[in-house]
Amino acid sequence: MPEIAYINSSFIPLEKAFVPINDRGYLFADGIYEVIVTRNGKTFLIQEHLERLQKSADELLLKLPHTLSEFIEIIDQGIKKAGFNETMVYIQITRGIEPRRHNYSADLKSNLTMTFRPHPEYDPQLIREGVAIITVPEIRWSRCDIKSIALLPNIMMKQKAVEMGCQEAVFVTKEGIVREGTASNIFFIKNKILYTPPADQHILGGISRNYILQQAAAHGLEQIERECTLEEILSADEVFITSSTVDLMPVIKIDETTIADGCPGPVSKIIKNFFPTVPTIMRN
Ligand code: PDD
Repeated sequence: MPEIAYINSSFIPLEKAFVPINDRGYLFADGIYEVIVTRNGKTFLIQEHLERLQKSADELLLKLPHTLSEFIEIIDQGIKKAGFNETMVYIQITRGIEPRRHNYSADLKSNLTMTFRPHPEYDPQLIREGVAIITVPEIRWSRCDIKSIALLPNIMMKQKAVEMGCQEAVFVTKEGIVREGTASNIFFIKNKILYTPPADQHILGGISRNYILQQAAAHGLEQIERECTLEEILSADEVFITSSTVDLMPVIKIDETTIADGCPGPVSKIIKNFFPTVPTIMRN
């Protein structure tokens, strides 16, 4: 089954899709994105993802080329055309195409591209046994709530984690405040209470994060959103990271510290079951 792209309002084979050299996404990373996956063939939390796309666009004064319901229609068509069991939909919208200049024309037309690829195979061992992550200095800007395609610190730090044999790198400020992973949010559990950093401008308000908080509340699990220190996370009963591509991944080691007894904990297992299907391996 071919991977496909949506570009210039048409679906074409992915390897035939190219963007112009003057696309401001290519020149400046002047754009936004979303990653949406299917579960049992159906898009999961699509409305929430598209609302976040709208919010990112509004923050950057970037015009979305479609209404949210038009987006849903195009995405559904792409998923059908691609024909994978489970699909990972990548949506990117850049400010548009014009010769390089930092400021942009008021009437510039934004450029929408999408890719439809198979959702990667899931590795049950990682979920069963948990993963190791590293901490890295928070060197990003102070609008991490915008899902911008400008991700240099994230890719540098993720690469470092992978080269160290770890699944994720988590940004920590010099004051010891834990923010989030390079492509995930972080939670910890202490005395059966669920903690996660607040969805302010320092982190991306993850759709999986929100879903977990809603589900946890519905299941009567006490939860607190507040600044979390590295010190308290290292002494937590359980730690996990979340994203649309992994759902929930238990963390059993952070840098040199083993979390609790080094095994995924019972509350993480309960929360994991809030998700409709078995999740996938985190993409390296
Ligand atoms: N990233 N924080 C950051 C910095 C992220 O890039 C992501 C997701 C998340 C989790 O958000 P969500 O639950 O909505 O997927 C948190 C996507 C998956 C990516 O860049 O591929």
